Amino acid sequence: MDDKLAELTSEIKKCEACHLKENRTQVVPGVYGPKNSLCFIGEAPGFYEDRDGVPFVGRSGKLLDKMLDSIGFSRKDVSILNVVKCRPTDEKKDNRTPKESELRFCGDKWLFKQLKFLTPKLIVTLGGISLKFFFPTAKVTKSAGNILTLEEGYPVFATFHPAYILRNYNKIEEYDGHFQKIAEVYNQTNGEKSRKKSKRSEQKSLTDFI
Ligand code: URA
Repeated sequence: MDDKLAELTSEIKKCEACHLKENRTQVVPGVYGPKNSLCFIGEAPGFYEDRDGVPFVGRSGKLLDKMLDSIGFSRKDVSILNVVKCRPTDEKKDNRTPKESELRFCGDKWLFKQLKFLTPKLIVTLGGISLKFFFPTAKVTKSAGNILTLEEGYPVFATFHPAYILRNYNKIEEYDGHFQKIAEVYNQTNGEKSRKKSKRSEQKSLTDFI
């Protein structure tokens, strides 16, 4: 890892800048693939991510891994980040959706800095919350499957959160199509080896992820 990115990551790990420090086990900065690659961005760590310090390790993460595999990628090829780096919890200490103010604060403080180092070819927002961080008026139901462009010049592909697909498994073919498109866009902008075509048909059912 680039020294400067390593420095930034250790700063993120020590962050105590907001109230989310109170209930978290640890900060989850994200995992990095090579520069100029794909960068997947979720909303915030949940129970398992908070426990392990790694993003997308629960059921959603399993589905994300399968989707990546279906287009010939693995975790080491891509970066996986969240807008919010600490697990947001409610009064019962259960997971909750991050608030707009938490997204803005943490995303502005850390996420953009990470992206500056990673210079992704394509950012993929997973779900409506991370899409809204970048494009406050966008709706995932309208934008899913499309590319939007950030002022900073990064192309952003909007798709669903894997947790949404686990709850709405009839959308899996559409999700498949999104991942195919992600691979196509990446391969078009990348002179390197083409990735293999989808083998999602090998993934039989929702029970694969439970
Ligand atoms: N959901 C997210 O948005 N991020 C994670 O890391 C895990 C679940």
